[in-house]
Amino acid sequence: MDRFVIRGGNPLVGTIRVSGAKNSALPCMAAAILTEDEVTLENIPQVRDIETERKLLASMGAEVSPRQGRANDRITISCRTLSDPVARYEIVKTMRASSLVLGPLIARTGMARVAMPGGCAIGGRPIDLHIKGLEKMGATITQEHGYLEARADRLRGAHLVFDKITVTGTEDLLMAAVLAEGETLMENCAREPEVTDLAALLTAMGAKIEGAGTSTIRVQGATSLRGARYRINPDRIEAGTFLIAGAITGGDLVVSNCNAEHLGAVIAKLQEAGLLVDILGPDTVRVRSHGPLRAADISTEEYPGFPTDMQAQYMALATQAEGVSQVRENIFENRFMHVQELVRMGANIKVDGSTATVRGPARLSAAAVMCSDLRASASLVLAALVADGESILDRVYHMDRGYERIEEKLRGVGAQIRRMGDIFPQGKMRRATDNPPVPSPADI
Ligand code: EPZ
Repeated sequence: MDRFVIRGGNPLVGTIRVSGAKNSALPCMAAAILTEDEVTLENIPQVRDIETERKLLASMGAEVSPRQGRANDRITISCRTLSDPVARYEIVKTMRASSLVLGPLIARTGMARVAMPGGCAIGGRPIDLHIKGLEKMGATITQEHGYLEARADRLRGAHLVFDKITVTGTEDLLMAAVLAEGETLMENCAREPEVTDLAALLTAMGAKIEGAGTSTIRVQGATSLRGARYRINPDRIEAGTFLIAGAITGGDLVVSNCNAEHLGAVIAKLQEAGLLVDILGPDTVRVRSHGPLRAADISTEEYPGFPTDMQAQYMALATQAEGVSQVRENIFENRFMHVQELVRMGANIKVDGSTATVRGPARLSAAAVMCSDLRASASLVLAALVADGESILDRVYHMDRGYERIEEKLRGVGAQIRRMGDIFPQGKMRRATDNPPVPSPADI
């Protein structure tokens, strides 16, 4: 099981490039189900979740090309024949976003059998709002043996009002609506850039959509959609993670190939914390430290508020700020898995319900820590970049789900980070108190 070995203390300096957005790529790949024609997507990140979705589509009979293009970031998907519209548990259990195939499968084939995703480290992750919307559009959905069985001769347009703002719920039902009969009005929709990205692809495929990116989306259903070629957005969470990496290490980091417009809440918060953040262009943001970090509170909200996917990363930064920062998580019920690992590195954090109180600055010392979910892993990487000594991060497969070659990218701007297989021979597990092996500088 891969581990990261990270020696803290180096300011990150230089330019680091952002990959395509995982959370745009996943719904856009699912959208290929809606047409018999080929859909070509560019700027697709090379991360585990994308490979999981590739397997999922192939298991249903789709053809997904190998990566192509100069940047090796282009894939072509053909769902001409969907011989087996089933999303099996073996795949769904590794990626709950597999539920994104539910809407397009029903819309295209009139049926779907999708394993219930189950929860994950950060929360129960129900999909009741997806189901409620599809039933309102005329689907008959039963649940048995851990699977959703859905059928509909043809979905009907409906007036849908989401009880809660849900990103993949909005995306799933948007993909159902584009082939439904008549008009669908969706209210209380998610406004995340990933929703707008999906709507732009669907429009290129011939869908009639108004209001994507706002709370109210209106769709005129079509009888069929054509293929398209589309380049997805840069990953705003990867970009935000890199901005915090530059900030926490006291560096001077230029984040390129991002979309500065999608980073408003994160940039404003970093400036409030005392950092110099300059937008050098629509796709380039520079962060520099500028004196001591100041404590600043965050409260996670749906877009355009401060993203829940940046909460763990911001908490790592807050451990280094002078003063008390309140970190309030409003979206998921269990998204503080990184706290105990940060405390083991020396952070001063107290959790009370959905609020974590971070007192700083705290000197972090290197430790052997365990990654628990995608963004908690990112938080531990950031803490290790500033900790005194060499940390070992276990279970970095969580990181690989959503960050492309992160150790190479960070090394390219001065981080001392490397990936290792099992450090110790089988059977001899190292106690957390053991001094981790000190690789020679050449090894880093
Ligand atoms: C998407 O998850 C993202 N994943 C998540 O990113 C992100 O954290 C989340 O949106 C919030 O921004 C993808 O896009 C693949 P939600 P999603 O439905 O759609 C509740 C990452 O780190 N809810 O917006 O699953 C839910 O429990 C991942 O990249 C229901 O109650 O999140 C949560 O409390 C983690 N019923 C809230 O809504 C439903 O049917 C928001 O969840 C659906 C959601």
